[in-house]
Amino acid sequence: MGTVAPVMPEVDFGADPLEDLYERIATLRGQGSRVVPVRYIGEIAWLVLRYDDVTRTFADEKRLPAAAAYERTGMPAMGRILMAMRGDQHRVNRALAGGALLPGAIRRATERLLVPVANLLIDAFGDRRELDLVESYTRRYPFNIISRLLGVPIEDEARIIGWLGRLIRLQWDRESALQARAELDAYLTPVLEQRRREPGEDLISQLVTAEIDGQRLQEEEILSFLRLLYPAGGETTFLTMSGLMLEVLSDRALYDRLIARPEDRARATEEALRKHAPATLLPRFAETAVTIADIEIPARSMILLGSGAANHDPDIFPDPERFSLERGANAHATFGRGPHFCLGSHLAREELRISLTLLLERLPGLRLADDRTIHATGAVVRGIHTLPVAFDALLPTVAYADPARKGAAR
Ligand code: HEM
Repeated sequence: MGTVAPVMPEVDFGADPLEDLYERIATLRGQGSRVVPVRYIGEIAWLVLRYDDVTRTFADEKRLPAAAAYERTGMPAMGRILMAMRGDQHRVNRALAGGALLPGAIRRATERLLVPVANLLIDAFGDRRELDLVESYTRRYPFNIISRLLGVPIEDEARIIGWLGRLIRLQWDRESALQARAELDAYLTPVLEQRRREPGEDLISQLVTAEIDGQRLQEEEILSFLRLLYPAGGETTFLTMSGLMLEVLSDRALYDRLIARPEDRARATEEALRKHAPATLLPRFAETAVTIADIEIPARSMILLGSGAANHDPDIFPDPERFSLERGANAHATFGRGPHFCLGSHLAREELRISLTLLLERLPGLRLADDRTIHATGAVVRGIHTLPVAFDALLPTVAYADPARKGAAR
């Protein structure tokens, strides 16, 4: 572990459940710490705690390029994903791959795709009046949307997620991960060929045909982008959505307010993104020694940008554990900052608002099924994994209007 001694050596921030993550962060902050060495998957990493330091460092591609970290963490399994690209390659790939995720494209997808898929999942509740909302809705919806965006059959989704699940465990089981990657690529390659021949409206068609300044995406660049989408866009959004529904169903006054005032639902979404950031520790790697908040970090150190810690910084978000609709601009750090700012933020926000609206409006009397306490777990990927609910009836599909748009902090 080297010569640096970690704070709180009893916990590993990369491996332990850490239900008490934000209490621990508050303790460190109370001791005046801004950047501290912690244990992280058995090694030392430097955890950045304060909002200003986290947001500034996110955008500091010059001193701490995201690629230096993702080349080590993400790339061995996923290939050269966007986060592992620098400079021009990143700029061109982001522009080519990101078109389908721009706000206009997402607005166009709302009526055609996002609302119908949410309604289908709710219809499938059938006669049930008690169920686990995570199992039956939040865990499924963002993944279903990615499959539909890509234009792959929903029946194939479980297989794709299975391959990706093995793929990202490369550090633990290399043989299985490499085999999964080969199987996923063997599945995707003919799909790419077919879309080249007969391009449609879907994201894969856009990826194989997109062109900027005479440049097109290479086959491996497309495959890396596709490998990234389910983990980046599914796992994250589902965890924040579960947190949002937990907050709304745990507070009767909040529930009543959101039923009565649809225009406040966008604020609720932003507050859930702040309080329930699903990716709470984003990696950077110091290729040479750097100083953050007057703390010298030696060369070849892993750095963790605490976006969750930033979102719980009481200097910026007073009483951070409180779920509040009165936070003004609510400029949380959940989607990062700078050149690698989340490409899927518009999609994630739209999915959250649609889900909140349709679940509240189609399920009268929606409530928690029992009074057990539900805790978020995990530090790198954090959230709740179960949400037993009950409701009185299942109403037919409602026309979806999003009067909340104006209220959203962006
Ligand atoms: C609540 C949901 C989400 C959260 C919290 C989230 C968070 C993030 C963060 C923090 C980054 C920057 C990483 C860094 O700087 O190290 C990022 C990048 C990215 N996200 Fe998201 N994300 C979410 C949803 C999505 C969705 C729905 C998609 C697409 C379907 C997506 C696709 C991407 C991509 C492609 C990048 C890489 C951008 C680049 O490197 O230029 N994300 N996300």
